This record gives sequence, structure tokens and C-alpha cells, in this order.
Amino acid sequence: METLFPIEKFRATRTPFYYYDTTLLRKTIEDVKNEAAKYDNFVVHYAVKANVNPKILKIISEGGLGADCVSGGEIEAAMRAGFPSSGIVFAGVGKADWEINTALDANIFCFNVESVPELEVINELAKAKGKTANVCFRINPEVGAHTHANITTGLAENKFGIAMSDMVPVIERALSLENINFTGLHFHIGSQILDMHDFEQLCLRINELQDVLASKGIKVENINVGGGLGINYDDPEKDPVPDFKSYFKTFANGLRLRPGQKVHFELGRSIVAQMGSLITKVLYVKKGVNKLFCIVDAGMTDLIRPALYHASHKIENITSGKPSETYDVVGPICESSDVFAKDIPVGACERGDLIAMRSAGAYGEIMASQVDKGVANTPAADCQWAIQAKTLSRREEL
Ligand code: LLP
Repeated sequence: METLFPIEKFRATRTPFYYYDTTLLRKTIEDVKNEAAKYDNFVVHYAVKANVNPKILKIISEGGLGADCVSGGEIEAAMRAGFPSSGIVFAGVGKADWEINTALDANIFCFNVESVPELEVINELAKAKGKTANVCFRINPEVGAHTHANITTGLAENKFGIAMSDMVPVIERALSLENINFTGLHFHIGSQILDMHDFEQLCLRINELQDVLASKGIKVENINVGGGLGINYDDPEKDPVPDFKSYFKTFANGLRLRPGQKVHFELGRSIVAQMGSLITKVLYVKKGVNKLFCIVDAGMTDLIRPALYHASHKIENITSGKPSETYDVVGPICESSDVFAKDIPVGACERGDLIAMRSAGAYGEIMASQVDKGVANTPAADCQWAIQAKTLSRREEL
């Protein structure tokens, strides 16, 4: 049976594990860079939260992207992987003092600030170090993205960002603080967005807000539009590299920029999702009353997206080669929500078959429960490697 995967190597590796196709990752990075380079003021940051695996980070940093971090740990991981601190932006509603200090010590490019209390703490901590912190404000543009409710973030009332109606007073407050340098606006309307109209709406809103600020003589150097470009989960083979061309074009056409302004992007999923698969083994095929259950050795502790968001990942039996049967594909965890998919066709399964859960490179490994994470190099090819997934709740001693 034809497959993308090095099956013999997989058979020799303990399951479950994440397998990353770094050839596809490099191709994706090339593509995002080339498409962004068509516009001389576009700057792309990789949203580290999507996958913080050191080897993956290193490949992305070598590709020359900046980093978008949401914690002190991510800033440290990004710098260890070689991202220059001058290309790091730091977002998050709950930045702790040590994280702010880490960012100040590293002289990162910019804090994406989400509240006035946070602004004041950054000012205090910068003052103590005799530094000035560059800040952008994250504004809620009230643009509803057509995506899952749990990953929509741009609406008026939610924990992220600052309401549009508060934008001017907050910027005025920043301009009055000695150790703060206001440099721009930050937005993020949600994730897994495939409809470019959502980004067009964001552009329109940014244009309006820019007009308001211009009328008050407030200078804006940077416009950060966040991330959010979606990928094809149903058919990863069809679109292994997302449509960066249309994405950047939407912003190039939609934004009315002022002279000298730079546009920043924070892309996570679209860069790393398609290169990753969770590889798991069939433990048992169990006949229920009306259903067949395919019980695999990975659980929600290895890939939580289906349990948390009802997210669907393409599930393939990569060793069977037999016609499909309909299964509920479930994990071994003692939770009823430990289900990857219900009533889906999968090549007929037998104990020992290998299953690939596709498009799992983003928000997969990073959201897994991990203890004692061991990294194993897959001897498949030196451009491809795997990481062992070990789960917390399945370990008896814990
Ligand atoms: N910038 C900000 C401020 C963000 O909050 C996010 C993602 C990104 C950039 C990157 O977005 P992306 O390009 O990856 O869509 N765990 C969820 C996704 C949460 C996304 C949170 N924010 C999932 O598994 O679908």
C-alpha cells in the first residue's frame, strides 16, 4: 500500500509519537517568506504557541522568521533556538513580572499589551532597569471570525485585548509614561480562518481606527494583524502548504497604510500544522452493540483538540490497505471524551496496525500532557524525525 510514511521505521519506534515532515516544514517556510517578500513592509513572526519543539523552532528560526511568544518560557525557547530577540513580540493577558523582566532583559522588539494595569507594571519594571519598553496595544476589532467559538477572539467582550472605545485614552496614557514607547496596534480575530472576507473586515476596521488616531495626531509605526490563517484538515494532501498568497494579498489590498508603516503577522497553525502527524497503534478492535470501536494507544492526553473543540483530524490506517469500515476511534484514557472521531471510515483495522492522525503539527504536541519527554531521532531520513509522546495520566505511578 502506498503511503507517505516510512512504515518500517515506524514499526521499530514505540507508539504513540509525533512525526514531523521537516521537508514540508522547510517548503512551507520558503513559501510564506517568498509570498511576504512581495511586499516590502511585511514582517512574519512564527506563533511559538503552535509548536515549541526545539528542533522545529530551530528550523523556523533558520528560515529567518521572527517569533510571537505568549510566555517567558516561549521567549527563552525561541532565543535558545536562535530567534533574534529583535524579532520577538510578546502577547498574553497575564504576563507575570518575571516574564516581563525576561522580555526587558532580552530587549525584545515589542510587548503586545492587553490592559492598562499591565501597561503600568511594564512601565514600573522598565523604569527599575533604566529601559524603555516598546508597546503595541491589542485592540478588539469586533470582527467575528467564522470559526469555532472557542478560538474566536476578536469580539467586544472577552478576556483578550482592549475595547475599541478605550483605544485613545489608553494610548494617551502610554504616551504619558516615561518608560513606555508606544509603537502601534495589535489585533487577532481568531484561528483556523479560511474565509478571506474575515480578514478584509479586519482591514476595514484597522483603516477606521487609523483614521481616528491620525485625526488626533497619534503616530503609529506598526500594525500587527495577528495570525489565524486556516489549513485543510479534511484533505491535507490537497493543500499541504496553505494559501499564503491570497492571505497576504488580502492585507496588501485591504489596508490603507501610512508612509513607513510595517505590517506584522503572527502565523502559527498555517506554518506547522500540515507537517505533523500523531502516529498511534491499534490495540484492539472491539464490537459494541451497534458499533465498531478502534481502540488506539494514543489518547486525548496526546492530542486534545478533538476532545476539547470537536476538532476533526484526518485519520488513516497507514498499514492496512483494506477497504474501509466504520469506526469510533477512541483512546485508552478513563474519560468518556477520549474520542478522536465517531462513525468515520478507516481502512479495516487489526491489532498492530498503525494509524496516522494528520495535520497535528500545530496545537498537538504542545497541548499534550508531557512528562519526561524523550526525543528520538527517526532513522527514516535525516530530514525527518519523530518525537515520543508519553502521557501523564496513563502512567500508573503518577
Ligand atoms: N497571535 C495571537 C495573539 C494568538 O492568540 C494566536 C493564536 C496566534 C497569533 C496564532 O494563531 P494561528 O495562526 O495559529 O491561528 N489551541 C487552538 C488554537 C488557539 C489559537 C490561539 N491563538 C487549536 O488547537 O485550534
